Amino acid sequence: MMPKMTRNPLIVALDVPTADKALGLAQALAPFVGAFKVGSELFTSAGPEVVRQIRAAGGSIFLDLKFHDIPNTVKGSVAAATRLDVQMLTVHCGGGLEMLKAAEAAAQQTAAEMVRPAPLVLGVTVLTSLDEDALARLGVTESLSRHAERLADLAVDAGLRGLVCSPLELPLLRRRLPQHVQLVTPGIRAAHDVNADQKRTLSAAEAIAAGADWLVVGRPICAVADPRAAAQQILASINAAS
Ligand code: C5P
Repeated sequence: MMPKMTRNPLIVALDVPTADKALGLAQALAPFVGAFKVGSELFTSAGPEVVRQIRAAGGSIFLDLKFHDIPNTVKGSVAAATRLDVQMLTVHCGGGLEMLKAAEAAAQQTAAEMVRPAPLVLGVTVLTSLDEDALARLGVTESLSRHAERLADLAVDAGLRGLVCSPLELPLLRRRLPQHVQLVTPGIRAAHDVNADQKRTLSAAEAIAAGADWLVVGRPICAVADPRAAAQQILASINAAS
């Protein structure tokens, strides 16, 4: 038996094009979710104001902009995100050790200046849209799972406290990484969901049992007739299994 969740692990991906749509969903879902994910589509169209509005209403924010640049630029981006008061953000592990260290340091230093907890900087290992053929075209000849492990190790060596990983990588990474490293997992589908483009999926309860700390769910909540009922159903499925 796994322990009852002490906090809500559900992150809803607000993959919508406008602030109005995002704020409507955030308002309806606030009591049932742990955080809202703002990705590059929404951020590019609606800007930091949509983050401020969700924060003002009490929602936690996972800013998923997957920063990948020279260390100095990523340092500035992470500092800006920390000033914006996001609780989680992403960087690409492929940016290298120095970039990852700069990201974590910027989160810690800026948060200390603002006297608030540092956001959780999450490393993105291998995008789930890439397969071994695609990696080979990039000059990566080791297996996909070995490459994901290598990038995960790099992130932990740099001091990152969390990673984004696919549901099927959870058991491997949970065994390999220190327990304090938080794992955030998209690709969550119930048996009755249409799979759409997510290929490597687990149910919410399965992913928690496999070691996920946070679950990112988009379309199974936001693209259905009753998002509140969908979120409640996912939470109930996690609690029933715990
Ligand atoms: O709609 P769905 O539940 O598939 O949304 C999953 C969210 O997680 C999307 O915002 C997607 O961009 C993100 N994501 C993913 N796979 C990754 C990394 C992020 O699906 N490897």
